[in-house]
Order: sequence, then structure tokens, then C-alpha cells
Amino acid sequence: MLPPQTHPTISVKRHPSASADLARHGCVDRSTARVGDVLLTTDILRQWEALKVAGTSVPTGEWSWIFAHYHSEYEDVLNHGDNDRLCALLRTCFRNNLTAGLVSQCVCDDSTPDNACFDFANNLLLDFDTWTELCDSNRSILDVPTVGNPYGLTIGNAVIMPDTPRHDYHAKRLASLLNVRHRDGKRTILEIGGGYGGACLQFLRRSSSPICWINVDLEQNLFVSYFFIASCIKLLEVPVRVRWGGLPALTRDLVEQSQNSEVWLIPARNHHLIECGSDIAYNSTSFSEMSRTSIERTCKRLPRMGLSSSIIRTAPFVRGHSRREVTRRSWQRNFQSIKPSTKRCAEL
Ligand SMILES: C[S@@+](CC[C@H](N)C(=O)[O-])C[C@H]1O[C@@H](n2cnc3c(N)ncnc32)[C@H](O)[C@@H]1O
Repeated sequence: MLPPQTHPTISVKRHPSASADLARHGCVDRSTARVGDVLLTTDILRQWEALKVAGTSVPTGEWSWIFAHYHSEYEDVLNHGDNDRLCALLRTCFRNNLTAGLVSQCVCDDSTPDNACFDFANNLLLDFDTWTELCDSNRSILDVPTVGNPYGLTIGNAVIMPDTPRHDYHAKRLASLLNVRHRDGKRTILEIGGGYGGACLQFLRRSSSPICWINVDLEQNLFVSYFFIASCIKLLEVPVRVRWGGLPALTRDLVEQSQNSEVWLIPARNHHLIECGSDIAYNSTSFSEMSRTSIERTCKRLPRMGLSSSIIRTAPFVRGHSRREVTRRSWQRNFQSIKPSTKRCAEL
């Protein structure tokens, strides 16, 4: 393994290996088309039709803005049940509007200025060095399977996506916290706002014992994570079942029925149906993008989800990097909503 060339810091340093060419090389086209894609998109459209009947989750905070500005094509495809177009969108995902807001660095292409490409490579290399120092693992665990059209940095034979070092670090921390917190029964992690499923995948890759990972998110992003996780575990041959949760409630009996690991995808509006309890509740950069009301509603329901221990709140991985300007007011509003006044919050 290469020794790190920088060390963790909250300031953005210049990494000695960063270059615009490195970023462009990591962003070459990797689009794929697999036979199984159509089965997954058919299932997504079936789920969408069923979920629409009772009403779907309403995005709030940054997400109402993201949906309004980037999701019109996606919504149109879902509402028309257009399997071909959905397949085309997911096969190029991470590079189109379907994943707006889910990946923290935009793809670099021929039209991207050199300085932006340089920053892309620099940020990822800094994160990679931090990961090397904190996780001390073989970098092959960061290599993203070619699902959709992923981009990042090519380091050795591995293609490392922009958020994967952070996801993998969280996966490692969650595994060690589970050892301390675990009660009887199958180990259960509740993730609020899992995005495309990066942290979940890293946890599954690291875990040697069966786990129940519950992801509560807006339906449109659950579909992306369904496609990503289901495709990745097939390619990596990890024995995991991905399941949809809705009615009836997700009970402990249901969780314990399977001996293997399972990922449950639950629409945000249905989180009151999670009755199985969990050892840890985890969010990373999802509370900070919801409205205060959504955060409070979620936090209020956590004890009813059987959670008696804590909410894990993660700070940004290394950099003070933000896609959009965060005003003092919005930060204060979000922060106040999750301040540890209920004694349920703990830092990861
Ligand atoms: C920036 S993404 C973070 C993704 C992932 N946790 C990560 O760290 O890469 C924020 C996620 O929060 C989700 N989200 C927004 N509002 C939500 C709500 N009310 N309930 C659950 N998830 C929500 C979004 O759909 C999105 O998947």
C-alpha cells in the first residue's frame, strides 16, 4: 500500500500528485448495459405505481429545490412508466440529473476547466490519504463496481468515487460501534437519507456477520440505491437480499426471518412503520439538507422505531467543501434542530 502523502486537516492542501489529467482520466466513459438492468427498472416502476396510490414522500429543504430544478425528466419517466428511458437514465447514472445532490463532486469532462479538474483530483486524493491513515485497509475495498457510469480517480486498478473514502470510513466506524452497542438478535442499522447507497455498500463489503440495513429516504432516491446496491452485490457476489418496506410494518420477526444480510428500503413517509428496533441510527449529510420540520418529525419517531441508544451525527469528512453556499441562518436553523437537547445525539 502507498504511504499517505498528506495528513488529515481541515484546510485544503495541495496534494503533490494532483493534476487535471488525473481527474480526466478518472472520469473516462464507463457506461454499461447489463441484462439484469431491465428487471430492476421493471421492479422500480412497479414499486412507483404501488407507492403512488397512497401518496409519496414530500421533499423538503434543499431537496424540494433539487427536485424542482433537476428531476423533471426523471418524474416524467416514472409517471409514464417508461422502462427504456428509465434504464437509459440509470445506466448513465452519476453523470445525469437523476443523481443530482447525491455525489459531492461533479464529473470532469473535456469542457471542464483545468482548475476545476485539478480541484476534483486534489480533493479526492486528500480524502484518499485521510482514508489510508484512518482505515488502514486494502484500497481494493474502495473500487466501485461498474454500475451505471461511475467516475472518480483511478488509483492503481481501483476506481474510487468522490464520496467512497468517507462512506468506507463511516462503515468501519459503524462496525466498531455495533460491537459496543449490539443487543440480542440480528444487528440492525437504520440510515436516514442513504443517497445512492454508498455507505450501505461499504458496510456490506466489510461485514462478515449478517446485518439488517434499513435505508429511509425519498422514493426517487431509494430507486437509485435499489439499482446501485442490487447491481453491486450481484457483481461482488455478496449474499444480500434487497427488499422494499411499506405495508405491513417492518417488525423484528420479519427482520429475524432471514439468516442472511438484508437491505430494507423504506419511503420517508412510511418511517412510522419501522417497528423492529435498531442498534444504531445513522445519517451523513442528510439532516443538514432537510427542513427543520422534517428533521424534528424524524427525530421524534426514532424512539418508536425501538431506538433507545443514540443518533449518530457525522461531521464532514475532511474538507470545508460545499456545493452551494450555506448561509449562517440555514446552518443555524438546521443545527438547532438537531442539537443534543434530547440527550440522544452522539458524535460519530
Ligand atoms: C446529500 S444526500 C446524502 C447521501 C448519503 N447519506 C451520503 O452521505 O452520501 C442527502 C439524502 O437525504 C435524503 N433526504 C432528504 N429528505 C429526506 C427525508 N425527509 N427523509 C429521509 N431522507 C431524506 C435525500 O433524498 C438524499 O438521499
